[in-house]
Amino acid sequence: MHRRYFLKVPLAAPVVLFASLLSHSAMSGSPDALSTVELQRASQFHISNLALSPPDISNAISENADAIELGRQLFFDEAMSSNNSVSCATCHIPENGFQDNKAVGEGVARGVRRTMPIAGAQWSPWFFWDGRKDSLWSQALGPLEDRKEHGATRAQLAKYVLSNYLDQYQSIFDNSAPHTASWPDIASPLVPGLAAENWNQLSSQGQHDINVVFANIGKVIAAYERTIRPNENRFDRYIAASLNTHPIDDNSAMSSEEIAGFRLFSGKAQCSTCHTGPRFTDDFFHNTGIPTPLGKVPDLGRYKVISQVLSDPFNCAGIYSDAGADSCAELKYMQTNARQFIGAFKTPSLRAVSQRSPYMHAGQIKTLEDVIEHYSRAGDALSGSLSNFNVKNGRVSELTPLNLNDAEKRQLVAFLKTL
Ligand code: HEC
Ligand code: HEC
Repeated sequence: MHRRYFLKVPLAAPVVLFASLLSHSAMSGSPDALSTVELQRASQFHISNLALSPPDISNAISENADAIELGRQLFFDEAMSSNNSVSCATCHIPENGFQDNKAVGEGVARGVRRTMPIAGAQWSPWFFWDGRKDSLWSQALGPLEDRKEHGATRAQLAKYVLSNYLDQYQSIFDNSAPHTASWPDIASPLVPGLAAENWNQLSSQGQHDINVVFANIGKVIAAYERTIRPNENRFDRYIAASLNTHPIDDNSAMSSEEIAGFRLFSGKAQCSTCHTGPRFTDDFFHNTGIPTPLGKVPDLGRYKVISQVLSDPFNCAGIYSDAGADSCAELKYMQTNARQFIGAFKTPSLRAVSQRSPYMHAGQIKTLEDVIEHYSRAGDALSGSLSNFNVKNGRVSELTPLNLNDAEKRQLVAFLKTL
């Protein structure tokens, strides 16, 4: 198990809503109900641990109300794309938990990974399935220039925002908007062809000016994304009601099967070694032996992006960040031995997971029942991942088979559905 060395921002101290912990045993009438000790363990998953937003020291305007509003507008603006028809909300659909229920995202073209939900992402130290970005604002710059997502270039976007949202930009960023007259319509160092040629012809000042506006576009979008938070679920209500000895009502009741599922989740099935805390994730990367989709190139996950994170001009230590390089502990102490990350992907949050099929980084698994089957068998996946990745001495699946019986499988699925 590979643990992170540092939290960029410490999790908000668990909010104590459990003053009456000890009196719990008095009300636990049902033999199935969680014991006081179990409830204490369960309270780490409670949503109240997410009461406070973590500060983002690399984004000075992350709490600015005007920035949140501009970010919201840009998030839904389809003109921020090469074909005037893709916005962040094309894939991150608000009515749908900010994801799209597709195996892989579809923007101006079809991508190779599944759209991730946004609620709660602000607590994560690394973004994307492989964690190739280290802040929410830097993450937002990725899809904008991705050839399959927005398909735009930073010069186009910087010019567009400064001509259509100039007053808002000026008030958020202290009237710092640069002159855009000499900028080409299309230019980016990351987009081969005309865009790269145009980029290379810009002066270094011109490149810098465009990068500043581009980074600021990411920062306002991130400010908006920080307002998208996970919802309270039935498991939260059950824990709170039990600990506060409120009567359990329709809104907070859990069946014996669901409670048994939680016991497995946090016990014998060891799910909570990775799916831990109030978002049910350790924010780390693991190879869980998810097979490559048929006919696709094996996706090596975090293994491929270690050097990319470190050299990204838009990372926490870079000149477009508002943090001093010394404050970027997460980046500074990042585990850089790439080989341990072959085929490793970020542990996803499990909040509202039953609404998010298909599952895994490329939608390889269709139902929760099949997810549990995968964890139960694990061994099959191990050899699958070995032949898929074909990397000698590389890291393979961390899972060991759980060999769950049918009742246990049903219990785990039932528990996941309470989230
Ligand atoms: C074409 C569909 C598509 C569009 C458009 C899109 N995304 Fe995504 N989003 C994805 C996919 C797919 C991933 C995972 C990609 C990967 O891991 O390589 C993702 C990942 C993310 C994540 C990472 C969440 C996490 O927990 O790590 C965030 C945040 C995000 N997108 C925000 C945005 C924003 C902001 C925009 C607009 C600027 C946007 N996305 C546009 C499909 C899309
Ligand atoms: C070793 C760490 C680890 C353990 C243990 C673990 N998971 Fe996961 N889980 C992950 C990772 C990593 C992924 C994403 C894998 C991928 O896409 O390649 C994942 C994905 C999932 C998903 C899909 C979520 C989504 O949005 O796609 C579900 C559901 C899930 N796990 C439930 C469980 C359950 C239930 C258990 C216990 C039986 C468990 N996990 C044990 C790390 C773990």
